[in-house]
Amino acid sequence: MSDTFTALVLEEVDGEQRAALKDLTTADLPADDVTVRVAYSTLNYKDGLAITGKAKIARRLPMVCGIDLAGTVEESNSPAYKTGDAVVVTGWGLSESHWGGYAQKQRVKSDWLVPVPKEFSLKQAMAIGTAGFTSMLCVMGLEHMGVKPGEHEVVVTGAAGGVGSVAVALLAKLGYKVAAATGRPELRDYLVSLGATSIVERTALAQPSGRPLDAERWAGGVDTVGGEVLASVLRGIRYGGAVAACGLAGGANLPTSVYPFILRGVSLIGIDSVMCPKPARLEAWQRLARDLPLAKLEAMTVVEPLSQVPQLAEDIIKGQVRGRVVIDVNA
Ligand SMILES: NC(=O)c1ccc[n+]([C@@H]2O[C@H](COP(=O)([O-])OP(=O)(O)OC[C@H]3O[C@@H](n4cnc5c(N)ncnc54)[C@H](OP(=O)(O)O)[C@@H]3O)[C@@H](O)[C@H]2O)c1
Repeated sequence: MSDTFTALVLEEVDGEQRAALKDLTTADLPADDVTVRVAYSTLNYKDGLAITGKAKIARRLPMVCGIDLAGTVEESNSPAYKTGDAVVVTGWGLSESHWGGYAQKQRVKSDWLVPVPKEFSLKQAMAIGTAGFTSMLCVMGLEHMGVKPGEHEVVVTGAAGGVGSVAVALLAKLGYKVAAATGRPELRDYLVSLGATSIVERTALAQPSGRPLDAERWAGGVDTVGGEVLASVLRGIRYGGAVAACGLAGGANLPTSVYPFILRGVSLIGIDSVMCPKPARLEAWQRLARDLPLAKLEAMTVVEPLSQVPQLAEDIIKGQVRGRVVIDVNA
């Protein structure tokens, strides 16, 4: 690769934010200690928010978007990494305060890097990406609260999305019965192929309720949606169960009451992948290597070129993307 490379850059043009492919050089990159030759990034809901401008994700412009990346180390000033090492970065402010993965080359802090587990190619590492890593954190959170595989289902909301699809596949592999809650019931076969034992229509969960509690239904939940859906999930969690909340695809409010917590001992676990400390990151990647069925990962993933990202950003915000989208930054 010559010193010039391509990146998707968010800039302000005529008072509006616009993302466009630009040529950059190594001299343009941030002054951090590891330069990565990027192979893949991915499309996440937050990338959609950043590129469409639906939320202010980039805190300064110009910003190279993309909240994650996988590639090989090109140059390292850190003793922890050497040229040729396969690495992945998720979060840590990529696309917010630091240039991100929608670029053929990026420079990042060595502390942010995680070695790609030997079980995964760079493409598979990004098929997992931020979404899949977050799904694993959710599963670990439920395990930590004592939610075990058993007779009762764990519900996953936004199940056909990126976090949701990986969560369904992980939970099913670990022996949980999984209720997949979706606004796209036409994707029933897809969700069943990932391991869902039942399908719940989103509309059944999206209604406000006058009741403080519903019948005890689920042992636990992974919620990517927030709003009325999360409130509804909380009302239906069985005694002593837990919900890992990681998303807001349906809204940032939480119109709930304290009754699930004080009458059923339900726990609400907050999941953040961006600033997640390194030990938990390493554990999550090890667990993904052990527990995520690669055939299912493959079945939920498509690969698209960097030039498609602006259109894909619109699609993901409209809830029209299924599973995971890997972005081939060199295509
Ligand atoms: N906490 C963290 O660190 C972290 C990390 C990654 C992602 N997230 C958050 O997790 C959520 C999912 O991310 P993702 O990358 O998996 O996005 P995604 O692929 O777009 O999945 C979101 C899913 O939510 C459902 N949905 C979309 N719009 C909705 C609406 N208006 N009301 C109810 N449900 C709706 C859809 O699933 P169905 O079609 O199946 O209904 C959609 O596929 C996002 O809010 C994202 O910001 C948080």
